[in-house]
Amino acid sequence: MSRATLKKDPKDVAAMFDDVAAKYDLTNDVLSLGQDRLWRRAVHQAVGATAGTRILDIAAGTATSSEPFVAAGAEVVPADFSLGMLREGHKRRPTWPFTAADATALPFADDSFDVVTMSFGLRNVADYSQALAEFRRVTRPGGRLVICEFSQPVIPGFRTIYSNYLMAALPPIARKVSSNPESYVYLAESIQAWPGQAELAQDIADAGWGEVEWRNLSGGIVALHRAVKP
Ligand SMILES: C[S@@+](CC[C@H](N)C(=O)[O-])C[C@H]1O[C@@H](n2cnc3c(N)ncnc32)[C@H](O)[C@@H]1O
Repeated sequence: MSRATLKKDPKDVAAMFDDVAAKYDLTNDVLSLGQDRLWRRAVHQAVGATAGTRILDIAAGTATSSEPFVAAGAEVVPADFSLGMLREGHKRRPTWPFTAADATALPFADDSFDVVTMSFGLRNVADYSQALAEFRRVTRPGGRLVICEFSQPVIPGFRTIYSNYLMAALPPIARKVSSNPESYVYLAESIQAWPGQAELAQDIADAGWGEVEWRNLSGGIVALHRAVKP
């Protein structure tokens, strides 16, 4: 299925995440076979948060992705457009500044963050080029972008095995652990339809970012893209 066919109305995407919010973190752990912990460590390394670094974690969901930055003493704003995810996050982390925000129209001033990061969110944004431009607007000159997203496995044999896992094995497992298994069918399809590493790097550069580079994690199941605002 092509990405154009798969594109969901932003309201439906928010509603879908509202539905899975309570069990989101558990489901992630199970479906990624625990790999998500490795991916989060790599994001943390790339973000390089230290005390006082101003970080926007956009599409933060329940803010599990923000945890390591907060632990490092950074000033983190976890933002998301699913109120269900924000509410679940607020229940668990009541003092954190959860903010309702759409990635394509951010409620922040120009140049206000040192780093903008997004983990497993960009694929869900219908107009992701607009989101990349917004991330650039709110990042200070010299500030950085770190995007962690599912990508294309780079080993050909493994690519087939992975594709079968996504389309055949993932939905039945999701039915057991998730409150909304349909959303995991969407997950599988949206991963298949998402651009590969080089194409996404080009999209990031086209949105005005410099020094774009990426690193594959778990053989390219996930890619970590980094860039700098000129
Ligand atoms: C798979 S979750 C990732 C949550 C978190 N970053 C993590 O790594 O656990 C994707 C999140 O993206 C959010 N999202 C999707 N499109 C968005 C948009 N246009 N603006 C803000 N958030 C969005 C969803 O509401 C959801 O919480």
